[in-house]
Amino acid sequence: MTTHTKTNTTANVTVIGLGAMGSALAGALLDAGHRVMVWNRTPSRADPLVARGAARAETAAEAVAASELTVVCLVDYAASRQVLEPAAGALSGRTLVNLTSDTPERAREAAGWAREHGIDYLDGAVMVPVPVVGTPEALLLYSGGQAAFARHEATLRALGGNARYLGEDPGAAALHDLALLDIFWTMMTAVLHAFALVGADGVRASEFAPLAVESITGLAPLLVEEAAAVDAGRHPGELAPLATDAEGVAHVAEASRVRGLDTSVIEAVHALMARTIAAGHGNDGFSRVIDAIQDRLPSGLPSATRAAASEAASGAPAGRRG
Ligand SMILES: NC(=O)c1ccc[n+]([C@@H]2O[C@H](COP(=O)([O-])OP(=O)(O)OC[C@H]3O[C@@H](n4cnc5c(N)ncnc54)[C@H](OP(=O)(O)O)[C@@H]3O)[C@@H](O)[C@H]2O)c1
Repeated sequence: MTTHTKTNTTANVTVIGLGAMGSALAGALLDAGHRVMVWNRTPSRADPLVARGAARAETAAEAVAASELTVVCLVDYAASRQVLEPAAGALSGRTLVNLTSDTPERAREAAGWAREHGIDYLDGAVMVPVPVVGTPEALLLYSGGQAAFARHEATLRALGGNARYLGEDPGAAALHDLALLDIFWTMMTAVLHAFALVGADGVRASEFAPLAVESITGLAPLLVEEAAAVDAGRHPGELAPLATDAEGVAHVAEASRVRGLDTSVIEAVHALMARTIAAGHGNDGFSRVIDAIQDRLPSGLPSATRAAASEAASGAPAGRRG
């Protein structure tokens, strides 16, 4: 049986949700000297925090009533809504910072719900793994109520010193979180694919990794250049035309196929390039592919063109691919 501490303690921060991340957030607040009230659906998960000095509430409503500031970190917004709905009255007139990761749409919906209940709302996203939480370099994104951010910024910096406020749109933190995840997961899949490619010819991943690190580290200036091209809508390709780039991509697909590897990701890259080339942009730079991603290429490209593009990457007629 767990020992319950007095629940009428006045805390200055309440943390709701004590999974791996919520526990790390509450721990960082304790480390920074805050009086912390905690609540979790499974009460035993609060035990280590209570042992470190946190107070435990019996209900979410009781937990939020203890503090002016409540930080929530749950699995998703459906869970967050389920937990917070019965606590809405107690939250009224206080500040809620939701560090649950989800979509911008659900973050905006949560902000609307908070507004209806007179709750000051900040949305946020934790951009670092658990062990980095609470360090000066830990990046957390925030968006929504600017006054709420200003009022609680010093406290929030205990969760991560690199606290970035992205503006009044409550969906902005989630949007930037997802954009960074977009880069992270596609890039990490490419990294694994490259390990498999060299591995098929007997090169160990750790032998190849230093060269990959050198290459990836050098990409930062290119990313800035591509952003400028996208914003200007100009995609100069004199030095590296898309049609030539696409040949290289087709070679990756071919070599992968020969080695019996999955080619779905590299074929998807080639298909975007091929559509862009088919729309007459073969002499533009790679950044022109944004038009295919945004579906802004002229519609009605002959289906034969699409089939040929896909064939070029797969090495087999599109109609005959399993
Ligand atoms: N872990 C990381 O490295 C990391 C990094 C960045 C961002 N995040 C984000 O942080 C958030 C929390 O992640 P986590 O790692 O802490 O997850 P977790 O360890 O799986 O914890 C999930 C939390 O959600 C609660 N929960 C789930 N369903 C619930 C429901 N229906 N009603 C009430 N509570 C419910 C769980 O309560 P019970 O204990 O009762 O199950 C637990 O407190 C996620 O949005 C995640 O994407 C995590």
